[in-house]
Amino acid sequence: MSDTVAGPLAAESIAGAAYIVAALLFILSLAGLSKHEKARAGVIYGIAGMMIALAATVWLTLQGAWGTDHGLTGLTLLVAAVLVGGAIGLWRARVVEMTGMPELIALLHSFVGLAAVLVGWNGHLESPKLSADLMAVHHAEVFIGVFIGAVTFSGSIVAFLKLSARMKSSPLMLPGKNAINLGALATFIALTVWYVNDSQFWLLVVVTLLALGLGWHLVASIGGGDMPVVVSMLNSYSGWAAAAAGFLLNNDLLIITGALVGSSGAYLSYIMCKAMNRSFISVIAGGFGIPALNKADADDGEHREITAQETAEMLTNASSVVITPGYGMAVAQAQYPVAELAHQLRERGVDVKFGIHPVAGRLPGHMNVLLAEAKVPYDIVLEMDEINDDLDGTSVVLVIGANDTVNPAAAEDPSSPIAGMPVLRVWEADNVVVFKRSMAAGYAGVQNPLFYRDNSQMLFGDAKQRVEDILRAF
Ligand code: TAP
Repeated sequence: MSDTVAGPLAAESIAGAAYIVAALLFILSLAGLSKHEKARAGVIYGIAGMMIALAATVWLTLQGAWGTDHGLTGLTLLVAAVLVGGAIGLWRARVVEMTGMPELIALLHSFVGLAAVLVGWNGHLESPKLSADLMAVHHAEVFIGVFIGAVTFSGSIVAFLKLSARMKSSPLMLPGKNAINLGALATFIALTVWYVNDSQFWLLVVVTLLALGLGWHLVASIGGGDMPVVVSMLNSYSGWAAAAAGFLLNNDLLIITGALVGSSGAYLSYIMCKAMNRSFISVIAGGFGIPALNKADADDGEHREITAQETAEMLTNASSVVITPGYGMAVAQAQYPVAELAHQLRERGVDVKFGIHPVAGRLPGHMNVLLAEAKVPYDIVLEMDEINDDLDGTSVVLVIGANDTVNPAAAEDPSSPIAGMPVLRVWEADNVVVFKRSMAAGYAGVQNPLFYRDNSQMLFGDAKQRVEDILRAF
Protein backbone atom coordinates (compact mmCIF):
# COMPACT_ATOMS: atom_id res chain seq x y z
CA MET A 1 0.00 0.00 0.00
CA SER A 2 1.43 3.39 -0.91
CA ASP A 3 2.03 6.11 1.71
CA THR A 4 -0.62 8.38 0.27
CA VAL A 5 -3.31 5.76 0.94
CA ALA A 6 -1.93 4.42 4.23
CA GLY A 7 -1.77 7.95 5.79
CA PRO A 8 -5.47 8.87 5.68
CA LEU A 9 -6.51 5.28 6.45
CA ALA A 10 -4.31 5.13 9.56
CA ALA A 11 -5.59 8.55 10.61
CA GLU A 12 -9.18 7.35 10.22
CA SER A 13 -8.57 4.22 12.29
CA ILE A 14 -6.95 6.21 15.10
CA ALA A 15 -9.79 8.74 15.04
CA GLY A 16 -12.27 5.83 14.98
CA ALA A 17 -10.65 4.35 18.10
CA ALA A 18 -10.77 7.76 19.81
CA TYR A 19 -14.46 8.05 18.89
CA ILE A 20 -15.19 4.70 20.56
CA VAL A 21 -13.44 5.84 23.75
CA ALA A 22 -15.44 9.09 23.61
CA ALA A 23 -18.68 7.14 23.11
CA LEU A 24 -17.90 4.97 26.16
CA LEU A 25 -17.23 8.09 28.20
CA PHE A 26 -20.61 9.50 27.12
CA ILE A 27 -22.33 6.30 28.30
CA LEU A 28 -20.50 6.55 31.65
CA SER A 29 -21.52 10.21 31.81
CA LEU A 30 -25.21 9.36 31.36
CA ALA A 31 -24.94 6.62 34.00
CA GLY A 32 -23.26 9.07 36.42
CA LEU A 33 -25.83 11.80 35.84
CA SER A 34 -28.66 9.46 36.81
CA LYS A 35 -27.52 9.47 40.47
CA HIS A 36 -27.12 12.45 42.78
CA GLU A 37 -23.83 11.33 44.32
CA LYS A 38 -22.23 10.42 41.00
CA ALA A 39 -23.44 13.46 39.03
CA ARG A 40 -20.13 15.34 39.33
CA ALA A 41 -18.19 12.33 37.99
CA GLY A 42 -20.79 12.06 35.21
CA VAL A 43 -20.12 15.65 34.16
CA ILE A 44 -16.35 15.03 34.15
CA TYR A 45 -16.77 11.91 31.96
CA GLY A 46 -18.90 13.96 29.58
CA ILE A 47 -16.32 16.76 29.34
CA ALA A 48 -13.49 14.22 28.81
CA GLY A 49 -15.50 12.43 26.09
CA MET A 50 -16.24 15.69 24.31
CA MET A 51 -12.59 16.79 24.46
CA ILE A 52 -11.39 13.49 23.00
CA ALA A 53 -14.04 13.67 20.26
CA LEU A 54 -13.10 17.25 19.38
CA ALA A 55 -9.36 16.51 19.43
CA ALA A 56 -9.85 13.46 17.16
CA THR A 57 -11.96 15.47 14.71
CA VAL A 58 -9.44 18.33 14.58
CA TRP A 59 -6.62 15.85 14.12
CA LEU A 60 -8.46 14.05 11.35
CA THR A 61 -9.03 17.36 9.58
CA LEU A 62 -5.35 18.28 10.03
CA GLN A 63 -4.31 15.00 8.40
CA GLY A 64 -6.60 15.63 5.48
CA ALA A 65 -5.49 19.28 5.28
CA TRP A 66 -1.84 18.44 4.79
CA GLY A 67 -0.87 19.93 1.44
CA THR A 68 -4.35 20.00 -0.17
CA ASP A 69 -6.43 23.11 -0.89
CA HIS A 70 -9.64 21.25 -0.06
CA GLY A 71 -8.33 20.15 3.35
CA LEU A 72 -7.00 23.60 4.16
CA THR A 73 -10.41 25.12 3.53
CA GLY A 74 -11.89 22.49 5.86
CA LEU A 75 -9.35 23.31 8.53
CA THR A 76 -9.93 27.06 8.26
CA LEU A 77 -13.68 26.57 8.47
CA LEU A 78 -13.29 24.24 11.47
CA VAL A 79 -11.11 26.71 13.40
CA ALA A 80 -13.44 29.61 12.56
CA ALA A 81 -16.54 27.60 13.60
CA VAL A 82 -14.94 26.46 16.88
CA LEU A 83 -13.86 30.01 17.75
CA VAL A 84 -17.17 31.68 16.91
CA GLY A 85 -19.33 28.87 18.36
CA GLY A 86 -17.16 28.54 21.46
CA ALA A 87 -17.26 32.30 22.14
CA ILE A 88 -21.05 32.50 21.75
CA GLY A 89 -21.54 29.37 23.88
CA LEU A 90 -19.30 30.66 26.65
CA TRP A 91 -21.03 34.03 26.66
CA ARG A 92 -24.56 32.53 26.79
CA ALA A 93 -23.62 29.97 29.46
CA ARG A 94 -22.19 32.73 31.65
CA VAL A 95 -25.15 35.11 31.40
CA VAL A 96 -28.09 32.67 31.39
CA GLU A 97 -30.28 32.68 34.49
CA MET A 98 -31.33 29.33 35.91
CA THR A 99 -34.94 30.21 34.98
CA GLY A 100 -33.83 30.81 31.38
CA MET A 101 -32.22 27.37 31.04
CA PRO A 102 -35.12 25.52 29.29
CA GLU A 103 -35.42 28.16 26.56
CA LEU A 104 -31.65 28.07 26.01
CA ILE A 105 -31.81 24.27 25.73
CA ALA A 106 -34.69 24.58 23.24
CA LEU A 107 -32.61 27.00 21.16
CA LEU A 108 -29.62 24.63 21.24
CA HIS A 109 -31.85 21.80 20.00
CA SER A 110 -32.84 24.00 17.07
CA PHE A 111 -29.15 24.26 16.06
CA VAL A 112 -28.84 20.45 15.99
CA GLY A 113 -31.92 20.31 13.76
CA LEU A 114 -30.54 23.01 11.45
CA ALA A 115 -27.18 21.23 11.24
CA ALA A 116 -28.93 17.98 10.25
CA VAL A 117 -30.82 19.83 7.47
CA LEU A 118 -27.58 21.38 6.15
CA VAL A 119 -25.73 18.05 6.30
CA GLY A 120 -28.62 16.43 4.40
CA TRP A 121 -28.61 19.11 1.69
CA ASN A 122 -24.86 18.71 1.41
CA GLY A 123 -25.37 14.96 1.10
CA HIS A 124 -27.54 15.66 -1.97
CA LEU A 125 -25.21 18.21 -3.56
CA GLU A 126 -22.08 16.12 -3.01
CA SER A 127 -23.58 12.74 -3.78
CA PRO A 128 -20.98 9.95 -3.47
CA LYS A 129 -20.35 7.45 -6.29
CA LEU A 130 -22.16 4.29 -5.15
CA SER A 131 -23.86 1.25 -6.63
CA ALA A 132 -27.58 1.67 -7.39
CA ASP A 133 -28.67 -0.15 -4.20
CA LEU A 134 -26.37 1.83 -1.93
CA MET A 135 -27.38 5.02 -3.69
CA ALA A 136 -31.02 4.34 -2.76
CA VAL A 137 -29.97 3.93 0.88
CA HIS A 138 -27.98 7.18 0.66
CA HIS A 139 -30.98 9.05 -0.75
CA ALA A 140 -33.24 7.66 1.97
CA GLU A 141 -30.72 8.82 4.61
CA VAL A 142 -30.60 12.31 3.07
CA PHE A 143 -34.37 12.63 2.91
CA ILE A 144 -35.12 11.25 6.39
CA GLY A 145 -32.27 13.27 7.95
CA VAL A 146 -33.55 16.51 6.41
CA PHE A 147 -37.11 15.74 7.57
CA ILE A 148 -36.17 14.98 11.21
CA GLY A 149 -33.78 17.94 11.28
CA ALA A 150 -36.36 20.42 9.97
CA VAL A 151 -39.09 19.17 12.38
CA THR A 152 -36.60 19.55 15.25
CA PHE A 153 -35.54 23.01 14.05
CA SER A 154 -38.95 24.66 13.76
CA GLY A 155 -40.39 22.76 16.77
CA SER A 156 -37.52 23.93 18.94
CA ILE A 157 -37.92 27.53 17.78
CA VAL A 158 -41.61 27.45 18.80
CA ALA A 159 -40.65 25.87 22.17
CA PHE A 160 -38.08 28.65 22.64
CA LEU A 161 -40.67 31.33 21.82
CA LYS A 162 -43.25 29.78 24.18
CA LEU A 163 -40.84 29.22 27.06
CA SER A 164 -39.48 32.75 26.82
CA ALA A 165 -43.07 34.12 26.74
CA ARG A 166 -42.52 35.63 23.27
CA MET A 167 -45.45 33.50 22.10
CA LYS A 168 -48.63 32.62 24.03
CA SER A 169 -48.31 29.32 25.92
CA SER A 170 -51.92 28.30 25.16
CA PRO A 171 -52.29 25.60 22.47
CA LEU A 172 -52.98 26.42 18.83
CA MET A 173 -56.26 24.67 17.96
CA LEU A 174 -56.49 24.43 14.16
CA PRO A 175 -59.57 22.51 12.98
CA GLY A 176 -58.63 18.96 11.97
CA LYS A 177 -55.19 19.20 13.54
CA ASN A 178 -54.76 15.42 13.74
CA ALA A 179 -55.62 15.14 10.03
CA ILE A 180 -52.99 17.84 9.31
CA ASN A 181 -50.32 15.88 11.21
CA LEU A 182 -51.24 12.53 9.66
CA GLY A 183 -51.49 14.10 6.19
CA ALA A 184 -48.01 15.60 6.58
CA LEU A 185 -46.61 12.20 7.60
CA ALA A 186 -48.29 10.41 4.68
CA THR A 187 -46.96 13.09 2.26
CA PHE A 188 -43.48 12.63 3.71
CA ILE A 189 -43.60 8.86 3.12
CA ALA A 190 -44.79 9.33 -0.47
CA LEU A 191 -42.12 11.96 -1.17
CA THR A 192 -39.42 9.69 0.31
CA VAL A 193 -40.36 6.90 -2.12
CA TRP A 194 -40.31 9.41 -4.99
CA TYR A 195 -36.93 10.87 -3.97
CA VAL A 196 -35.30 7.45 -3.53
CA ASN A 197 -36.31 6.59 -7.10
CA ASP A 198 -35.65 9.99 -8.62
CA SER A 199 -33.50 12.29 -6.47
CA GLN A 200 -34.63 15.71 -7.66
CA PHE A 201 -33.45 18.68 -5.62
CA TRP A 202 -36.87 20.33 -5.57
CA LEU A 203 -38.21 17.32 -3.63
CA LEU A 204 -35.69 18.08 -0.91
CA VAL A 205 -36.89 21.69 -0.80
CA VAL A 206 -40.51 20.52 -0.54
CA VAL A 207 -39.81 18.06 2.29
CA THR A 208 -37.85 20.75 4.16
CA LEU A 209 -40.81 23.15 3.98
CA LEU A 210 -43.26 20.37 4.89
CA ALA A 211 -41.19 19.36 7.93
CA LEU A 212 -40.72 22.98 9.04
CA GLY A 213 -44.51 23.42 8.97
CA LEU A 214 -45.12 20.12 10.79
CA GLY A 215 -42.59 20.92 13.55
CA TRP A 216 -44.14 24.32 14.03
CA HIS A 217 -47.69 22.92 14.17
CA LEU A 218 -46.81 20.01 16.49
CA VAL A 219 -45.30 22.21 19.18
CA ALA A 220 -47.67 25.17 18.72
CA SER A 221 -50.59 22.75 19.39
CA ILE A 222 -49.22 21.80 22.80
CA GLY A 223 -50.44 23.67 25.88
CA GLY A 224 -48.18 25.26 28.49
CA GLY A 225 -48.69 22.49 31.06
CA ASP A 226 -47.21 19.89 28.71
CA MET A 227 -44.16 21.95 27.72
CA PRO A 228 -41.69 20.03 29.94
CA VAL A 229 -42.50 16.88 27.99
CA VAL A 230 -42.13 18.76 24.71
CA VAL A 231 -38.66 20.01 25.63
CA SER A 232 -37.46 16.51 26.45
CA MET A 233 -39.14 15.17 23.31
CA LEU A 234 -37.31 17.76 21.17
CA ASN A 235 -34.14 16.67 22.94
CA SER A 236 -34.90 13.19 21.68
CA TYR A 237 -35.61 14.45 18.12
CA SER A 238 -32.32 16.38 18.12
CA GLY A 239 -30.54 13.10 18.99
CA TRP A 240 -32.14 11.28 16.06
CA ALA A 241 -31.31 14.24 13.81
CA ALA A 242 -27.66 13.99 14.89
CA ALA A 243 -27.68 10.21 14.29
CA ALA A 244 -29.09 10.79 10.79
CA ALA A 245 -26.28 13.29 10.13
CA GLY A 246 -23.81 10.68 11.45
CA PHE A 247 -24.96 8.16 8.81
CA LEU A 248 -24.47 10.73 6.06
CA LEU A 249 -21.06 11.85 7.29
CA ASN A 250 -20.04 8.27 8.00
CA ASN A 251 -19.23 9.31 11.56
CA ASP A 252 -19.69 6.54 14.15
CA LEU A 253 -19.49 8.89 17.10
CA LEU A 254 -22.36 11.04 15.84
CA ILE A 255 -24.44 7.90 15.28
CA ILE A 256 -23.76 6.54 18.79
CA THR A 257 -24.17 9.90 20.56
CA GLY A 258 -27.27 10.72 18.55
CA ALA A 259 -28.81 7.37 19.44
CA LEU A 260 -27.95 7.89 23.13
CA VAL A 261 -29.54 11.34 23.19
CA GLY A 262 -32.49 10.16 21.10
CA SER A 263 -33.34 7.15 23.25
CA SER A 264 -32.66 8.79 26.63
CA GLY A 265 -34.75 11.83 25.60
CA ALA A 266 -37.60 9.57 24.51
CA TYR A 267 -37.43 7.64 27.78
CA LEU A 268 -37.37 10.86 29.83
CA SER A 269 -40.43 12.10 27.92
CA TYR A 270 -42.17 8.82 28.73
CA ILE A 271 -41.29 9.06 32.45
CA MET A 272 -42.50 12.67 32.56
CA CYS A 273 -45.76 11.73 30.87
CA LYS A 274 -46.30 9.01 33.47
CA ALA A 275 -45.49 11.45 36.30
CA MET A 276 -47.97 13.96 34.89
CA ASN A 277 -50.58 11.34 34.01
CA ARG A 278 -50.41 12.20 30.32
CA SER A 279 -50.64 9.94 27.28
CA PHE A 280 -47.23 9.87 25.62
CA ILE A 281 -48.71 9.46 22.15
CA SER A 282 -51.14 12.35 22.67
CA VAL A 283 -48.40 14.69 23.77
CA ILE A 284 -45.98 13.84 20.97
CA ALA A 285 -48.82 14.12 18.48
CA GLY A 286 -49.46 17.62 19.78
CA GLY A 287 -52.92 16.63 20.88
CA PHE A 288 -53.19 17.32 24.54
CA GLY A 289 -53.80 21.02 24.66
CA ILE A 290 -57.30 22.10 25.39
CA PRO A 291 -57.75 25.86 25.40
CA ALA A 292 -57.52 27.27 28.92
CA LEU A 293 -60.92 28.27 30.09
CA ASN A 294 -60.33 31.77 31.29
CA LYS A 295 -62.94 31.75 33.99
CA ALA A 296 -63.59 35.12 35.58
CA ASP A 297 -62.47 35.48 39.18
CA ALA A 298 -66.09 36.06 40.20
CA ASP A 299 -66.89 32.39 39.48
CA ASP A 300 -64.57 31.30 42.21
CA GLY A 301 -65.66 33.64 45.01
CA GLU A 302 -63.66 36.02 47.16
CA HIS A 303 -60.04 35.65 48.16
CA ARG A 304 -58.64 36.70 51.54
CA GLU A 305 -55.37 38.53 52.15
CA ILE A 306 -52.91 38.15 55.00
CA THR A 307 -49.94 40.31 56.05
CA ALA A 308 -46.38 39.18 56.71
CA GLN A 309 -46.85 40.03 60.40
CA GLU A 310 -49.97 37.81 60.64
CA THR A 311 -48.17 35.01 58.76
CA ALA A 312 -45.30 35.21 61.25
CA GLU A 313 -47.79 34.82 64.12
CA MET A 314 -49.50 31.89 62.41
CA LEU A 315 -46.12 30.18 61.90
CA THR A 316 -45.09 30.75 65.51
CA ASN A 317 -48.18 28.87 66.68
CA ALA A 318 -47.83 26.04 64.14
CA SER A 319 -46.58 22.57 65.02
CA SER A 320 -45.85 21.52 61.42
CA VAL A 321 -45.08 23.56 58.33
CA VAL A 322 -44.71 22.38 54.72
CA ILE A 323 -43.16 24.72 52.15
CA THR A 324 -44.04 24.07 48.48
CA PRO A 325 -41.87 26.24 46.25
CA GLY A 326 -42.43 26.93 42.55
CA TYR A 327 -41.26 29.04 39.66
CA GLY A 328 -41.94 32.32 41.56
CA MET A 329 -39.38 31.38 44.23
CA ALA A 330 -36.78 31.01 41.47
CA VAL A 331 -37.74 34.33 39.85
CA ALA A 332 -37.60 36.15 43.17
CA GLN A 333 -34.38 34.30 44.15
CA ALA A 334 -36.12 33.76 47.47
CA GLN A 335 -34.40 30.44 48.28
CA TYR A 336 -31.95 32.03 50.76
CA PRO A 337 -34.53 33.75 53.02
CA VAL A 338 -36.77 30.65 52.60
CA ALA A 339 -33.90 28.46 53.86
CA GLU A 340 -33.39 30.89 56.76
CA LEU A 341 -37.12 30.79 57.55
CA ALA A 342 -37.02 26.97 57.64
CA HIS A 343 -33.95 27.10 59.86
CA GLN A 344 -35.50 29.55 62.34
CA LEU A 345 -38.75 27.59 62.53
CA ARG A 346 -36.86 24.35 63.19
CA GLU A 347 -34.90 26.09 65.97
CA ARG A 348 -38.27 26.93 67.52
CA GLY A 349 -39.23 23.26 67.44
CA VAL A 350 -41.56 23.41 64.42
CA ASP A 351 -41.51 20.35 62.14
CA VAL A 352 -40.57 21.83 58.73
CA LYS A 353 -40.55 19.99 55.42
CA PHE A 354 -40.37 20.94 51.75
CA GLY A 355 -42.69 19.34 49.17
CA ILE A 356 -41.33 19.28 45.62
CA HIS A 357 -43.53 18.70 42.59
CA PRO A 358 -41.76 16.92 39.69
CA VAL A 359 -42.35 19.84 37.30
CA ALA A 360 -42.17 22.74 39.76
CA GLY A 361 -40.23 25.59 38.19
CA ARG A 362 -39.10 25.38 34.60
CA LEU A 363 -36.80 22.36 34.40
CA PRO A 364 -36.51 18.98 36.09
CA GLY A 365 -34.88 19.30 39.51
CA HIS A 366 -35.09 23.13 39.40
CA MET A 367 -36.31 23.47 43.00
CA ASN A 368 -33.91 20.83 44.36
CA VAL A 369 -30.96 22.73 42.89
CA LEU A 370 -32.10 26.06 44.36
CA LEU A 371 -32.71 24.57 47.81
CA ALA A 372 -29.36 22.75 47.76
CA GLU A 373 -27.72 26.06 46.78
CA ALA A 374 -29.28 27.65 49.89
CA LYS A 375 -28.06 24.70 52.01
CA VAL A 376 -31.46 23.30 52.96
CA PRO A 377 -30.76 19.81 54.42
CA TYR A 378 -31.63 17.03 51.90
CA ASP A 379 -33.57 15.00 54.45
CA ILE A 380 -36.35 17.60 54.83
CA VAL A 381 -36.80 17.98 51.06
CA LEU A 382 -39.44 15.42 50.01
CA GLU A 383 -40.88 14.47 46.62
CA MET A 384 -44.59 15.03 45.95
CA ASP A 385 -45.49 11.37 46.49
CA GLU A 386 -43.62 11.27 49.80
CA ILE A 387 -45.36 14.34 51.24
CA ASN A 388 -48.88 14.28 49.77
CA ASP A 389 -50.40 11.99 52.41
CA ASP A 390 -48.97 14.13 55.23
CA LEU A 391 -50.50 17.39 54.02
CA ASP A 392 -53.83 16.56 55.66
CA GLY A 393 -53.05 17.45 59.28
CA THR A 394 -50.22 19.90 58.54
CA SER A 395 -50.77 23.19 60.43
CA VAL A 396 -49.55 25.57 57.72
CA VAL A 397 -48.53 25.15 54.08
CA LEU A 398 -46.52 28.02 52.57
CA VAL A 399 -46.98 28.03 48.77
CA ILE A 400 -44.06 30.14 47.62
CA GLY A 401 -44.41 31.21 43.98
CA ALA A 402 -46.11 27.95 42.92
CA ASN A 403 -49.42 27.82 41.11
CA ASP A 404 -50.16 25.00 38.60
CA THR A 405 -48.44 22.43 40.81
CA VAL A 406 -50.87 23.10 43.70
CA ASN A 407 -54.04 23.57 41.63
CA PRO A 408 -56.98 21.51 43.02
CA ALA A 409 -58.72 21.73 39.61
CA ALA A 410 -56.26 19.09 38.36
CA ALA A 411 -57.69 16.64 40.90
CA GLU A 412 -61.30 17.80 41.06
CA ASP A 413 -62.38 19.33 37.74
CA PRO A 414 -62.42 16.85 34.83
CA SER A 415 -62.97 19.72 32.36
CA SER A 416 -59.77 21.50 33.41
CA PRO A 417 -56.92 21.55 30.85
CA ILE A 418 -54.66 20.11 33.55
CA ALA A 419 -57.19 17.48 34.74
CA GLY A 420 -55.48 14.28 35.85
CA MET A 421 -52.06 15.85 36.39
CA PRO A 422 -50.90 14.89 39.90
CA VAL A 423 -50.58 17.92 42.17
CA LEU A 424 -49.51 18.68 45.73
CA ARG A 425 -52.76 18.48 47.76
CA VAL A 426 -51.94 21.58 49.81
CA TRP A 427 -55.62 22.45 50.28
CA GLU A 428 -55.94 19.55 52.74
CA ALA A 429 -53.78 21.40 55.29
CA ASP A 430 -55.31 23.44 58.14
CA ASN A 431 -54.02 26.74 56.69
CA VAL A 432 -52.50 27.70 53.36
CA VAL A 433 -50.61 30.94 52.68
CA VAL A 434 -49.98 31.66 48.99
CA PHE A 435 -47.07 33.97 48.17
CA LYS A 436 -47.48 35.68 44.77
CA ARG A 437 -47.73 39.16 43.32
CA SER A 438 -51.25 39.10 41.88
CA MET A 439 -54.20 36.82 41.14
CA ALA A 440 -52.68 35.94 37.74
CA ALA A 441 -52.75 32.34 36.44
CA GLY A 442 -49.66 30.09 36.37
CA TYR A 443 -47.71 28.78 33.40
CA ALA A 444 -50.54 26.60 32.05
CA GLY A 445 -52.83 29.66 31.99
CA VAL A 446 -55.41 27.97 34.22
CA GLN A 447 -57.24 29.70 37.09
CA ASN A 448 -56.49 28.28 40.54
CA PRO A 449 -59.50 27.65 42.86
CA LEU A 450 -57.06 27.16 45.76
CA PHE A 451 -56.87 30.94 46.17
CA TYR A 452 -60.58 31.10 47.04
CA ARG A 453 -60.71 28.26 49.56
CA ASP A 454 -61.76 29.05 53.15
CA ASN A 455 -58.43 27.88 54.55
CA SER A 456 -56.34 29.87 52.00
CA GLN A 457 -54.97 33.38 52.34
CA MET A 458 -52.92 35.40 49.85
CA LEU A 459 -49.69 37.14 50.83
CA PHE A 460 -49.14 39.50 47.91
CA GLY A 461 -45.76 40.85 46.80
CA ASP A 462 -42.34 39.66 45.74
CA ALA A 463 -41.68 36.30 47.45
CA LYS A 464 -38.20 37.27 48.64
CA GLN A 465 -39.36 40.53 50.20
CA ARG A 466 -42.35 38.92 51.89
CA VAL A 467 -40.27 36.10 53.40
CA GLU A 468 -37.74 38.68 54.62
CA ASP A 469 -40.65 40.64 56.18
CA ILE A 470 -41.68 37.47 58.05
CA LEU A 471 -38.11 36.96 59.28
CA ARG A 472 -38.07 40.57 60.56
CA ALA A 473 -41.42 40.02 62.27
CA PHE A 474 -39.92 37.05 64.17
P1 TAP B 1 -46.31 28.41 37.83
O1 TAP B 1 -47.56 27.65 37.66
O2 TAP B 1 -45.62 28.91 36.61
O3 TAP B 1 -46.63 29.64 38.78
C1 TAP B 1 -45.62 30.46 39.28
C2 TAP B 1 -46.26 31.57 40.08
O4 TAP B 1 -45.22 32.35 40.64
C3 TAP B 1 -47.10 32.50 39.21
O5 TAP B 1 -48.47 32.31 39.45
C4 TAP B 1 -46.63 33.90 39.61
O6 TAP B 1 -47.77 34.66 40.04
C5 TAP B 1 -45.69 33.66 40.80
N1 TAP B 1 -44.54 34.55 40.77
C6 TAP B 1 -43.78 34.93 39.73
N2 TAP B 1 -42.81 35.76 40.11
C7 TAP B 1 -42.95 35.92 41.45
C8 TAP B 1 -42.25 36.66 42.43
N3 TAP B 1 -41.20 37.44 42.13
N4 TAP B 1 -42.67 36.59 43.71
C9 TAP B 1 -43.75 35.83 44.06
N5 TAP B 1 -44.45 35.11 43.16
C10 TAP B 1 -44.05 35.14 41.86
O7 TAP B 1 -45.21 27.60 38.67
P2 TAP B 1 -45.16 26.13 39.26
O8 TAP B 1 -46.26 25.90 40.24
O9 TAP B 1 -43.77 25.96 39.70
O10 TAP B 1 -45.49 25.20 38.03
C11 TAP B 1 -44.56 25.01 36.99
C12 TAP B 1 -45.27 25.13 35.65
O11 TAP B 1 -44.27 25.26 34.62
C13 TAP B 1 -46.09 23.92 35.31
O12 TAP B 1 -47.21 24.29 34.56
C14 TAP B 1 -45.12 23.10 34.45
O13 TAP B 1 -45.75 22.20 33.60
C15 TAP B 1 -44.43 24.22 33.67
N6 TAP B 1 -43.11 23.85 33.17
C16 TAP B 1 -42.31 23.07 33.93
C17 TAP B 1 -41.10 22.65 33.43
C18 TAP B 1 -40.30 21.69 34.28
S1 TAP B 1 -39.57 20.46 33.61
N7 TAP B 1 -40.25 21.85 35.56
C19 TAP B 1 -40.64 23.11 32.17
C20 TAP B 1 -41.47 23.98 31.42
C21 TAP B 1 -42.72 24.34 31.95
P3 TAP B 1 -47.75 36.27 39.96
O14 TAP B 1 -47.42 36.61 38.56
O15 TAP B 1 -49.10 36.68 40.40
O16 TAP B 1 -46.69 36.70 40.92
